Amino acid sequence: MDFPYSVTQDVPLYLAPMAGVSESPFRQICRRYGADVVVSEFISSVGISLGIERVLAEMRFEPCERPIGIQIYGADAGIMAKAAAMVTELFEPDFVDINFGCPVKKVVKNNGGSGCLKDMTLVRGIIRAVREATRLPVTVKIRSGWDESQRDPVEIGLRCQEAGAQALTLHPRTRTQMYQGAANWDEIARLAQALTIPVIGNGDIRTPEDVVAMRNHTGCAGIMIARGSFGNPWLFAQARDLLDGGGRTKRPDPTPEERFATALDHARLALRLQGDTRKTALEFRKHFGWYTKGLPGASELRQRLFAIESMGEAEEIFSEYLFGSARSVAA
Ligand SMILES: Cc1cc2nc3c(=O)[nH]c(=O)nc-3n(C[C@H](O)[C@H](O)[C@H](O)COP(=O)(O)O)c2cc1C
Repeated sequence: MDFPYSVTQDVPLYLAPMAGVSESPFRQICRRYGADVVVSEFISSVGISLGIERVLAEMRFEPCERPIGIQIYGADAGIMAKAAAMVTELFEPDFVDINFGCPVKKVVKNNGGSGCLKDMTLVRGIIRAVREATRLPVTVKIRSGWDESQRDPVEIGLRCQEAGAQALTLHPRTRTQMYQGAANWDEIARLAQALTIPVIGNGDIRTPEDVVAMRNHTGCAGIMIARGSFGNPWLFAQARDLLDGGGRTKRPDPTPEERFATALDHARLALRLQGDTRKTALEFRKHFGWYTKGLPGASELRQRLFAIESMGEAEEIFSEYLFGSARSVAA
């Protein structure tokens, strides 16, 4: 299957766009552990078009993250086009992804995200306008529809393709479902059959074996992982082992030491890229929770990590665990 941007794997594995999670530090960690493509968190087209510095800062990435897509959302074709042109000019990612899947109230109330799915004329208008505004490939991410009565991912996908989408990711739930029920992989299979552009399957991948199962079940061109990657970037490399090895062997799970070391690396990246502020530390706590989940004897560690107010404190705590003493890791 021909992707509109350069990928080296037959079935590329994607780190999903996730607000508050798929930021530059986590994207870098996931690329290091086997994600083939990463996508930014969704960024407001209004914020971009107004040149708001905080919003522009959210789009920064480093060369090691490529191939990377920047995801934008909004319900005004003109503003989406302006945002796409600015993204291209200022950041030049490998592709621009349009979010037609976000279920969050604040976004859909202005018809953004999955709100657009109620109006396919709007969806087509946005895709066309964005295609015209950028020389980069344009991809889209959708849900299966707004609600059960309008559930028709194949029809939505065909309309997106016709309007110029060059690859499409389906998270096969409706907006009304939010995250309830199982993702309907049959819909990914039907869409992959119906479209000529690459279809990336997404939804409920928790284990490396799930990746192989989705590929076999749907014949999708690529696979996108969101929640399964929390504290577990190793999932990508393990899944790659299974995909390439015909479902036979995969590398072992990381040891507790590897987990701690990776959490520390991740924290250092956050420190470097986001600064040693209280905000960075508070937002990082969730990652610590995920990395240490299920580890024997980690409850005291978690308690200490959840109390941190600066990333420097986190470094000290991890150093103690890893090296037995609070040696400075900044050096
Ligand atoms: C914390 C969180 C934030 C998310 N933010 C975005 C986003 O910014 N853009 C988007 O298209 N989807 C977003 N999603 C949806 C995921 O990309 C994905 O479609 C969904 O979680 C299903 O995949 P999973 O079962 O692998 O988690 C988000 C999901 C989570 C859990």
